[in-house]
Order: sequence, then structure tokens, then C-alpha cells
Amino acid sequence: MEASVSKPRPAATPLRALRSSGLSGRLRPPGDKSVSHRSLILGLLCVGETTIEGLLEGDDVLHTASACRQLGATVTRRGDGNWSVFGAGLGSLLTPRETLDFGNAGTGSRLMMGVGGGHAITARFDGDASLRKRPMRRILDPLLLQGARVLEQQEGGRFPILLQGTSEPLPIEYTTPVASAQIKSAVLLAGLNSPGRTVVIELEASRDHTEKMLLHFGAELKVEPHGPHGRKITLEGRPELRAQKVRVPADPSSAAFPLAAALIVEGSDIVVEGVMTNPLRSGLLTTLLEMGADLSLENRRVEGGEEVADIRARYSPGLRGVDVPPQRAPSMIDEYPILAVVAAFASGETRMRGLSELRVKESDRLNAIAAGLKANCVDCAIEVDDLFVRGEAVAGGGHVETHLDHRIAMSFLVMGLAAGKEVTVDDQAMIATSFPSFRALMESLGARFA
Ligand code: S3P
Repeated sequence: MEASVSKPRPAATPLRALRSSGLSGRLRPPGDKSVSHRSLILGLLCVGETTIEGLLEGDDVLHTASACRQLGATVTRRGDGNWSVFGAGLGSLLTPRETLDFGNAGTGSRLMMGVGGGHAITARFDGDASLRKRPMRRILDPLLLQGARVLEQQEGGRFPILLQGTSEPLPIEYTTPVASAQIKSAVLLAGLNSPGRTVVIELEASRDHTEKMLLHFGAELKVEPHGPHGRKITLEGRPELRAQKVRVPADPSSAAFPLAAALIVEGSDIVVEGVMTNPLRSGLLTTLLEMGADLSLENRRVEGGEEVADIRARYSPGLRGVDVPPQRAPSMIDEYPILAVVAAFASGETRMRGLSELRVKESDRLNAIAAGLKANCVDCAIEVDDLFVRGEAVAGGGHVETHLDHRIAMSFLVMGLAAGKEVTVDDQAMIATSFPSFRALMESLGARFA
């Protein structure tokens, strides 16, 4: 087994966003990243063919597809976004001969640690420089209770990690220490192969795609409210999973970029189609509406088991700063960078509270956002885990460090479309992890990059 997969990165490729006007047109962002990872993983755990329509073909998801192959699935791309997975089946995964390389993908790696931890395999997990910095102890802690063993790890429970799973995961009841769908999902995926019942309690509800997909694939699972904002999920082990058809809705976290751009670029009027509006992913829409954004949800429907809508966004010169409560964080955790950019164009102060989890994303996002705002002369401050942004006309002209973080890159490029002077990001490469067509789709609306 090779010791490390960390490769030298190619030279950074900066990108500039230029002041634009009148974005217009319709677009459909790529498939949701969370649902894409999960559809491949559930496909791996079934016998028979799972077909996936609208899979996000971003680098993160492609790494998960490779890991599924290494664990015994036959994963084939049949056409644009159309994939087929012939799974190895629950309890029948292969021990991978080489390191499982997850690149930049926190979700893929953490969910697969759950899968591996609940099977009699030993696998080495690794990724890029960003993933190697991210805390994995939050996943290892419950997996150890379930019976997995950590044979090697880096300081603080970091990648590369050599994990030995168990063929008989213990049934546990686990309360997640932070609202994290990744922790919840890892425990549930390990618990799938348990002879007993696995219970996960979360005090704040996090995105529920794993629960929905487990039900879709035939698992027996119960979700109950727990306390004022939480949930209790009970999973019966060793279900008869059945291969399925999955249709992946458009990713609301990617939709956020064109929507935000339309709100701040003068004269814009766009429609973003097929966007997932799952309430546990919709905190940004709630917040933007509170700020006075001209957004409307049209053609609401259910696709692939998720609520979706076409969202129309128009230039909104009257945006006002608001107070975003900490309880809303799980439903918009990936959207704070772009919200902070919109807040820079709103009048008054926007207070975003309870953002400690942002420090352990693809970068320390709290600091990366504040540094990017300051580089563009936006008045902002971090107070403990809160971010305050005082908006008005944005001067721009800044050079933003992205720290291998796709959402920092896209957020500040959106800023550059409406700021006084162009905004440059130091590297556009990571955008391919979640939204490879970002530039082309934005240009099709009239956005200018160079
Ligand atoms: C995700 C959960 C979130 C989110 C990530 C995707 C998922 O992470 O930030 O981009 O698909 O489960 P946490 O669960 O760690 O908050």
C-alpha cells in the first residue's frame, strides 16, 4: 500500500472577474454534491444496477466514484451525468489494494470512512493538502465505538489514516457533538452492516440526504423530532438494500452563486432551474428574502424525492443587512462565503452568528472570508465565532487568496462582477471540485472574466 497520494499541485491559475451588467438568461447548475456522493455510495452497497441521472461530475464526486471501484463496484459513465453502479453489496466490500485518495472531498472521505469502518476491510484514506488539515477525529470517535480500529493517523486525527473496519459493527446510540451531516452519515453508513439498531441524535437538524436515500434504497429507518431543533434517527441494521434509479436535483450551494450575482449586478434578471429547495438546505434563501432580495420560486415540484423549484432572481438595489441566527447555520453552512459577499453590497450591518464550523471547511473559511472582504475594502470583523459585515458600495480591486477552497474562489469572483474594480482570485482550479461549468454558465448569463 503506498504511503501517500499527495501530489505536487500544478501552478496556480488566477482568474479575474470584471464589472458586468444586466445578467440575463436561464441556467441549470450541476447536480447536488451531497446527493451525488451518496448515490454512488448507496449504489456500492447494493447488488444490482443503480442508475444515476444528473450526477455532479466534479472532482470531489469523481474521487468517490474511484473509491467505490476500489471497494468492488463497477462504476461506468454512460453519458453526460448518467452513471451506472453495479455494487459489491453490503457486507461484501473488497479491501482496496491502494490508498483511497479523496482529493479535496471532505464529504466523500468521511462518508466512506463510515462505510469502511463497518466492513471487514483495512483501507488507507488520504487527500490533498486541504483535506489533510481537516479534523477526522469527529468521524473516528463514533467509529471506534462501533468497533473499528485506527491503525495509523497523523497528529490530531488527520489524514493519511489507516482504518481497520469490523464485520460486526456494534449497535450504538450516538449524539453528534456538532450539527454535521457528515458525522451523522458516517455513523449510519457504518451501522448499516450492524446486526443491531443504530441510533443517531442530533441537537440541530443537519441535511437529511442520507436518511432519504437510505429509505429510497429500502433500509428501515425512523426519523423523530428531538428537542426544539433536533432529530433522532433509528436505523435497523443489515437491511435488504435494493439497487435504484436516482435523479440528482441541481445543487442549491452552486445555484447560490448565479442567484447572488443577479441580486448585486445592476439590471440582472435570471432564472436558475431545478434547484433543490430541501428546507435543511434553504437557509440562504430565507436570509436573502429577509434582506429584501427580489427572489421568487416558480414551478415548485418534487424530483428524485426532493423538493425543487426554478428560482428567479432580479437585481435588488435595496438589500438591507440582517441578523442571521446561529440555529440557521446548519441549513446554509456552505453559503456563508457568498452571503458575506451579498452583505457587502447591502446597506447596514449583517451579523452572521455561530460560525465555528466554518473554521474546519475546505479552508478556515471564517478567516478566508474576512481576508477577502478586507482585500476589497469591505468593513468587516470577526468576533469569536461571529462575522459582521458592514455593507455599501464595494470598491473591489482586491487579490483574494482561496486556500484551495472552491467556495471562496466563486464567491469573490461574484463580488468582482459588481464591485467598482475587478477582483482577482489567486487560483481557479478548485472550482472544478463542485462546479466545473461555473465560468461557462456565468458567462452565458453575461458575466465577464479574464
Ligand atoms: C455535507 C455536509 C456539510 C457541508 C458539506 C457537505 C454533506 O458538512 O459543509 O459541504 O454532504 O453531508 P458538515 O456535515 O461537516 O457540516
